[in-house]
Amino acid sequence: MSSSMSSCEPKMEKKKAIVGAGISGLLACKHTMEKGFNPVVFEARNGIGGVWSSTIDSTKLQTPKNYYQFSDLSWPLSVKETFPDQSQVMDYIKSYALRFGIFTQIEFNSKVVSIKNLSTNEDEVCSWELWSGTGKAFSPKGKWNVVVQDVLHPLEAPKVYQVDFVILCIGKFSDLPKIPHFEQRKGPEVFRGKVIHSMDYAAMNKIEAVEFIKDKRVTVVGFQKSALDIAAQVSKTNGVRHPCTLLFRRVQWSGSENLVRLTFRNLNRFSELMIHKPQEGLVLWLLAFLLSPLRWIFTKLIECYLRWIYPLKKYNMIPDHTFLKQIYSCMFTVLPDCFYERVEDGSLILKRSRKFCFCTTGLIIDDEVDPLETDIVIFATGYKSDEKISNIFALNYFKKCITGSSTPFYRECIHPRIPHLAIIGYSESPATLFTTELRSKWLAHFLAGKFKLPVIKEMEEDAKRWGKCMRKYSRENYKRACVSVMLQIYCNDQLCRDMGCNHMRKKWFLSEIFSPYQPADYANI
Ligand SMILES: Cc1cc2nc3c(=O)[nH]c(=O)nc-3n(C[C@H](O)[C@H](O)[C@H](O)COP(=O)(O)OP(=O)(O)OC[C@H]3O[C@@H](n4cnc5c(N)ncnc54)[C@H](O)[C@@H]3O)c2cc1C
Ligand SMILES: NC(=O)c1ccc[n+]([C@@H]2O[C@H](COP(=O)([O-])OP(=O)(O)OC[C@H]3O[C@@H](n4cnc5c(N)ncnc54)[C@H](OP(=O)(O)O)[C@@H]3O)[C@@H](O)[C@H]2O)c1
Repeated sequence: MSSSMSSCEPKMEKKKAIVGAGISGLLACKHTMEKGFNPVVFEARNGIGGVWSSTIDSTKLQTPKNYYQFSDLSWPLSVKETFPDQSQVMDYIKSYALRFGIFTQIEFNSKVVSIKNLSTNEDEVCSWELWSGTGKAFSPKGKWNVVVQDVLHPLEAPKVYQVDFVILCIGKFSDLPKIPHFEQRKGPEVFRGKVIHSMDYAAMNKIEAVEFIKDKRVTVVGFQKSALDIAAQVSKTNGVRHPCTLLFRRVQWSGSENLVRLTFRNLNRFSELMIHKPQEGLVLWLLAFLLSPLRWIFTKLIECYLRWIYPLKKYNMIPDHTFLKQIYSCMFTVLPDCFYERVEDGSLILKRSRKFCFCTTGLIIDDEVDPLETDIVIFATGYKSDEKISNIFALNYFKKCITGSSTPFYRECIHPRIPHLAIIGYSESPATLFTTELRSKWLAHFLAGKFKLPVIKEMEEDAKRWGKCMRKYSRENYKRACVSVMLQIYCNDQLCRDMGCNHMRKKWFLSEIFSPYQPADYANI
């Protein structure tokens, strides 16, 4: 790619950089290519697939495969499972990249170390009424310098590419681990054993992982999917001789694959009527109000079911919040097989704690006198996703746009004050591929000039209304970047309307109301 370009070239010649070749980057690339663009994808690793390229051995999809499917490429018939495993997911992703000629667009081992907007300063951005000054995807003043380091030659000077639009697809769950903060002399530095993050554990191959934990006393910190999976794996390997301790501060609802199947089957327009969405009128508000008992019955039935199939009461594992509040905020995990059987047989110990710190031989939990003696601590405590995104911006003003607010992005991918840039894959959802694909289609339409963005004030108001709605239903579990399970169709409708296509995509009225929406419903947009 040349390092600069003139401003009078045709629209489709505009240079676009996509950062990352996980699912989001591949989707952004495919859909923009379809609109005639020729993007370059910078990928720091030497392969595609992002998080799926390096997971712990037992990782499977938590989303039924029909919802984690590219709209224009079905899963191969050989994949019979509803929840395919990591290698099946990787094969599927590779077949997508091959089928749509994406590999040739990717520059592997190319880490974007920073991006700098060339012509804008903070005062100018603040004075804009329209996004980027024009409301359009491109403008002569909208160049970014993308600084790229060749990972295989770290001593070489980075290359600088000048582009007209940047699509950040760098993912949320990798690279920058979140490790709890400890007072001086109470952190890992005083501990004689080993401390790693779930990310490092996932990077080990099967044999290395078993060798690392075998016959060791292991404590896993956290209570989301990484923590549950690792704890299950350690307890299976080490059995009752060296039980694994799962240490957590908050219990979440987690359930079986059958429950996930059932929940997804009910993601239809009728269930979304139970939620009062931004800018809906009095009639729909009244309907949501009248249907709210159904919402309550649904959540109580599921909670009763989970209490029935798992010994939650016996182990004091009933969460303080309702099941619905949790799934509104994109937090639901599938419990690994035989999880409570391992708790029953003593190979897995569940321990809730408000605070803990390190000592030489292990962890001191709350105000307990005796330490929990342990050889290895694995922090499955998540990632600093906002910091990861903000770090890539050279200018402080743009960094602050990411970390300085809890308001969601417009349509979950455009920040009203960051010009000529979109972020795909930032928002979590129960079926990330599904939500990411529709946003990629939307973005490709926007780049091709099919619609303009509203004025910045309206974008900000819209994002605030959306954030308020999400807060109302998820309360203390509110997350800025989440397309809630009960608002999938509503969000898809908005994107379809922007793109000028029919948002009612079923053939019959009854199926429009009662059948679930899946990626295949949005093929050919
Ligand atoms: C183990 C695991 C299992 C999951 N399972 C599910 C599931 O079942 N269902 C679901 O809906 N979601 C799931 N998720 C969420 C998951 O994050 C998404 O489904 C999706 O795969 C994310 O894709 P992505 O492309 O947005 O990000 P990533 O997969 O993280 O890809 C980002 C890519 O960007 C590259 N990159 C990062 N920084 C740079 C840089 N500076 N320069 C160049 N390249 C860079 C990375 O190397 C990576 O290849 C899971 C996440 C994890 C961690
Ligand atoms: N498909 C799969 O099989 C699979 C496997 C792994 C991961 N994933 C996905 O990958 C994403 C990341 O999952 P993740 O489990 O790695 O991270 P995560 O969802 O961010 O969970 C982090 C966990 O660490 C806890 N935690 C954070 N800070 C802590 C602290 N200071 N002290 C104690 N506990 C702390 C959190 O507890 P609080 O709730 O108290 O904050 C939470 O339980 C999720 O979307 C997940 O679904 C999927």
